[in-house]
Amino acid sequence: MREIAKRMARLDGKVALITGGANGIGLACATRFAEEGASVVIADLLDDAGESAAVDLRGEGHRVMFVHLDATSTADNEAAVVAAVADFGSLELLVTAAGISFAGYTSGDRAQERQMAQLGASVGLATAFLHLPSEQWQPVLDVNLTGTLLAVQAAGRQMVAQASGGSIVTIASIAALVPEVGTLAYSVSKAGVWMLTKMAAMSLASEGIRVNAIGPGFIETNMTHIIQTLPERPDKLMEQIPMRRFGQPREIADLALFLASDEASYVTGELMVADGGFYTH
Ligand code: NAI
Repeated sequence: MREIAKRMARLDGKVALITGGANGIGLACATRFAEEGASVVIADLLDDAGESAAVDLRGEGHRVMFVHLDATSTADNEAAVVAAVADFGSLELLVTAAGISFAGYTSGDRAQERQMAQLGASVGLATAFLHLPSEQWQPVLDVNLTGTLLAVQAAGRQMVAQASGGSIVTIASIAALVPEVGTLAYSVSKAGVWMLTKMAAMSLASEGIRVNAIGPGFIETNMTHIIQTLPERPDKLMEQIPMRRFGQPREIADLALFLASDEASYVTGELMVADGGFYTH
């Protein structure tokens, strides 16, 4: 009789650091990676959400801890790596999901979302471009782009010291590829993440570290809540998405899982888009 081999979990024995792991895509990655056997460090600015996510996942039998992280801080990124190694013994995987869509964005703050949507709608294209204040530009670049660099550097240094290789997944966006009204700082930051990913892949390949980016389309998270709820906008947007729906965070996490796993052993420096076909036109 043919024996049915027990399926190995795809990330057995691996330790993963997930920045922005308290909500949305980061949380889905933390959950999916833990389900596949990884020990997971959730790192996020929001302590309550991060702690509660870690408690929930531990309650399901997974090895998960939370650390406070401001993605823009070199010291916090280094401390997150130190915490991963101290508690779980090593670090092989990184997902950089910490991100903001506009300066001052706080995940889950609905009142703030509405204010921003009204502000964006009130000015013309040229004015919005020519007069974008630096206080709306710099924080987005700091979190999305510099934050990604700092996490990749801190985790990459640990992976090189371990000489065990590793896999890094950055979360860019289709905004890195197509200009969209009202998203100057965000789109430029994500285009930067894409080039950063390629540079990191080229620089770290000799160390056995693969670095890939994911370009999500519209995914149902706190970040897109305002788009989902504003009158008229969802219908117009849906016409541009051939699959006629937003994606779920888990659908991005499944892609991150593939890129993190050995199944993607010859994939590096790649941007994988998951957008329901949005980018096809
Ligand atoms: P989210 O708001 O649900 O999650 C973002 C997480 O990042 C939150 O937990 C937040 O607290 C954390 N964060 C923000 N600033 C931080 C900082 N300075 N330090 C540490 N953590 C910080 O949003 P979502 O959608 O899950 O976003 C995750 C990533 O995916 C972001 O980089 C976003 O730009 C990207 N993305 C999202 C898309 C979407 O449609 N939701 C589409 C394309 C990209």
